[in-house]
Amino acid sequence: MGRVMFVILLWLSAGTLLSVVRGEDPYLFFTFNVTYGTISPLGIPQQGILINGQFPGPNINCTSNNNLMINVFNNLDEPFLLTWHGIQQRKNCWQDGVAGTSCPIPPGTNFTYHVQVKDQIGSYFYYPSTAMHKAAGGFGGLRVNSRLLIPVPYPDPEDDYTVLIGDWYTKSHTTLRKLLDSGRSIGRAEAVLINGKTAKGDGKDEPLFTMKPGKTYKYRICNVGLKASLNFRIQSHSMKLVEMEGSHVVQNNYDSLDVHVGGCFTVLVTADKVPKDYYMVASTRFIKSVLTSKGIIRYENAKAPASPDLPKAPLGWAWSVNQFHSFRWNLSASAARPNPQGSYKYGNINITRTIKLVNSAIRTKGKLRYALNGVSHVDPETPLKLAQYFEIPDKVFKYDTIPDIAPSDVADSLSVQPNVLNITHRDFVEIIFENHEKTMQSYHLDGYSFFALAIEPGRWTPERRKDYNLLDAVSRHTIQVFPKCWAAIMLTFDNAGMWNLRSEHAENRYLGQQLYISVLSPERSLRDELNMPDIQLLCGLVKNLPKPAPYT
Ligand SMILES: *[C@@H]1O[C@H](CO)[C@@H](O)[C@H](O)[C@H]1NC(C)=O
Ligand SMILES: *[C@@H]1O[C@H](CO)[C@@H](O)[C@H](O)[C@H]1NC(C)=O
Ligand SMILES: *[C@@H]1O[C@H](CO)[C@@H](O)[C@H](O)[C@H]1NC(C)=O
Ligand SMILES: *[C@@H]1O[C@H](CO)[C@@H](O)[C@H](O)[C@H]1NC(C)=O
Ligand SMILES: *[C@@H]1O[C@H](CO)[C@@H](O)[C@H](O)[C@H]1NC(C)=O
Ligand SMILES: *[C@@H]1O[C@H](CO)[C@@H](O)[C@H](O)[C@H]1NC(C)=O
Repeated sequence: MGRVMFVILLWLSAGTLLSVVRGEDPYLFFTFNVTYGTISPLGIPQQGILINGQFPGPNINCTSNNNLMINVFNNLDEPFLLTWHGIQQRKNCWQDGVAGTSCPIPPGTNFTYHVQVKDQIGSYFYYPSTAMHKAAGGFGGLRVNSRLLIPVPYPDPEDDYTVLIGDWYTKSHTTLRKLLDSGRSIGRAEAVLINGKTAKGDGKDEPLFTMKPGKTYKYRICNVGLKASLNFRIQSHSMKLVEMEGSHVVQNNYDSLDVHVGGCFTVLVTADKVPKDYYMVASTRFIKSVLTSKGIIRYENAKAPASPDLPKAPLGWAWSVNQFHSFRWNLSASAARPNPQGSYKYGNINITRTIKLVNSAIRTKGKLRYALNGVSHVDPETPLKLAQYFEIPDKVFKYDTIPDIAPSDVADSLSVQPNVLNITHRDFVEIIFENHEKTMQSYHLDGYSFFALAIEPGRWTPERRKDYNLLDAVSRHTIQVFPKCWAAIMLTFDNAGMWNLRSEHAENRYLGQQLYISVLSPERSLRDELNMPDIQLLCGLVKNLPKPAPYT
């Protein structure tokens, strides 16, 4: 069976998939060949990171409970890791593909991820999680469809489209990395791309998508960029929001949506206008010199080109805060249960711990670092999870490096070390992100979805809990924090593992604005956490250590 599969895989063109039923949950097999290649998204050739020759990489299409077997061949000249952004990896941080859980895949070798997607129906993406590789590509869409048994709260669309938007730098990922390593910022992007392109508007642009008049289409929009929040809109068409980051929401119509780095929306768009071309537009928000990108949506039988008049983006961030307030979880939608333990009445659960994280940008000896509560994280050579599993954590990191509540002088202190928080399994925790800076923030937590309770201006105090949405906040994996604002989330830490909490802004993360949350399975029990896979790559201090007794 195994050999037959291998032969068929070689025979199929790269990126195609094959599904086999083993027991209950089907397996889907993917081969990802990661290479450098020349791309010219702005008309000028530059080095990109391709998957199976594609930029962006291929879409992964799967259904809840599917087992994804993704065999990644690293043909770059550098170690490489992919992360499956927003996929919860229940009991299985081994597959998370971040430096704190996995050794990177050495150049010239391959590694197979085994990711089981659970009931988190929605739009996601994958991307390279280390070494600024994301600046060169390596990302692609990932959609989780509903099993037939679980209805989604809208009719089947005519077709399903992935729209990956992001800011883009013409400098290579190695140049950007050198800037960061020397303690400088990567500065502003040169452009915005939509699915790796930007339309010129010279009448020769190929359409990105086509629509049949009268039909309704699903668009999955994710911000895969490095740091710019983007506003997304479509000429003359409104978008009905149906899902965001794995939760079905109250279906409001929007003329435009602010998509922050790491965030994803699923919208329905009906082709009910004059049959011609229309532009979809993505433009930067909250920075003075606005960058805009467009791409064509063509009606079948289109009679005319798209109008060059692009719809205007909203101004200022108050608009965006209001938009956040309009997002409500659809409590009656039967699909997409984000919390398998079922804490739907999250507003009634007593908080066991409050953590307030304040981000800071600090220059030390002239070099820029970013921190959370005064600690700027560095990835040790031995992944944190492996150090823990092999029971040598003391040789690699300390627990609870930061205080739960940021001290008031947080902007003046800096220590550079691995940043690990110890959270008790199943605790119900409130986390506040307070942004004292003048720049946007976007935070992402691996392994979980959380209730996005509030985003408000100013500083957080316990009294501000009155601003929380304790009824129908959307369960998400990423939350933006506007300049001089705070955001609050709540969740039950019921997924044992070592989980990355990070600034989704690539520069901030690279220079230390991230930490890991260790949620231990106290009994090393298989009920709580899966064993380290046999093929797990070992590096650093654990490379030659005997394997500890597996979980039971
Ligand atoms: C990956 O792509 C390169 C370049 O096209 C090719 O030489 C190599 O054989 C491919 N590897 C796999 C595993 O498909
Ligand atoms: C994606 O998968 C679903 C079922 O899992 C299938 O119905 C659909 O046709 C697939 N779409 C594409 C584009 O392969
Ligand atoms: C590497 O790829 C080969 C060929 O597809 C496969 O048999 C093997 O299991 C892969 N190795 C790992 C560690 O994933
Ligand atoms: C919520 O989901 C239900 C059931 O799937 C659907 O009928 C309803 O229209 C949705 N409500 C809103 C406000 O979107
Ligand atoms: C929450 O705490 C209050 C006050 O300490 C207590 O009365 C209540 O029973 C607790 N509720 C739950 C669900 O544990
Ligand atoms: C982490 O928290 C758990 C549960 O509260 C506790 O048993 C353990 O001792 C803590 N570990 C460290 C290193 O602080």
